[in-house]
Amino acid sequence: NGLLGEVWDDEMSSSMLGTRMKKVVQNYQAMNKYGVELSGPGGVSGTPKLSGPELLCQLKDKVEVATLTPDLQPFSLLPWATQLPPQQLTSDLGPYKSCAVVSSAGSLRYSGLGKEIDSHEAVLRFNAAPTTGYEKDVGSKTTIRLINSQVMASDDHRFLSSSLYSSGVLVAWDPAPFSADLTKWFNRTDYPIFAQYQRYRRLHPLQPFYILHPRFEWQIWQRIQDNMAEPIQKNPPSSGMLGTVLMMSLCEVVHVYEFLPSRRKTELCHYYQRFYDAACTLGAYHPLLYEKNLVKRMNQGSDRDIYTSGRVTLPGFRKLNC
Ligand code: C5P
Repeated sequence: NGLLGEVWDDEMSSSMLGTRMKKVVQNYQAMNKYGVELSGPGGVSGTPKLSGPELLCQLKDKVEVATLTPDLQPFSLLPWATQLPPQQLTSDLGPYKSCAVVSSAGSLRYSGLGKEIDSHEAVLRFNAAPTTGYEKDVGSKTTIRLINSQVMASDDHRFLSSSLYSSGVLVAWDPAPFSADLTKWFNRTDYPIFAQYQRYRRLHPLQPFYILHPRFEWQIWQRIQDNMAEPIQKNPPSSGMLGTVLMMSLCEVVHVYEFLPSRRKTELCHYYQRFYDAACTLGAYHPLLYEKNLVKRMNQGSDRDIYTSGRVTLPGFRKLNC
């Protein structure tokens, strides 16, 4: 299509990265910090390429959107377990008719997508992404905020005191061992997610706040690896990918904004910061490149939607006939 510029190619591979980024990816491969064990067809070239609908059904079948509850060991043995929500997130929230997942990509700047984003029944945002001052481009509604443990622990994000985090439902996650063993994770989190969770709950006892079960991140990782022709980074998927699958379990239809970059694609890392790095969009630590390949293959919207609005359309799991 001569009138349409380039959109994300679902066969992006690490060979298309620059030398610097290739080295970073190779280093993460060698480290295997989380003890990933390869199984199944993952990374073997010649892996049969599934269709979009087949990928969607795999995701629905093999990924369980689970959160921590007070009955799970080792938490059940600790006095603060009562601070955890008694029910799963998926039984408390939704179903929503339409949802927006707002990536924090720099290409949202000057997008004018705010009204469209806010027209959804529920809106998911990530980490420290603000709306104040950026309403025209990203909207102002926040139903759920997915945060990583690094943001919870870092002084500059002022997690405990900033008003950024005090509205909507909070959902936190931390890169856990591949085994997803809760006791192993509890003894060796990447950042002090549990200490910060307890402090936050004491200050904001009425705000709903869930913690994702580590099985969730690694089940999604496995779906990505099993459907790629080369080995992916042995690190958990990005918040963007986790949030997208989370919303697919709560919504009838999910629109993801600027995860697959539009014509506004830029090296600007976040729409809210003056920091430039191509790794933000292509990934270094996270298998972000491969997450984007998978999302491109599952997209039910048009390439034009991606090109003009950075918009991907995914069906909710409930709407799928597998
Ligand atoms: O950087 P942060 O993790 O807070 O951003 C939220 C998510 O948005 C990322 O996990 C990633 O999936 C997506 N993102 C992106 N391209 C960027 C910045 C963020 O795809 N330039």
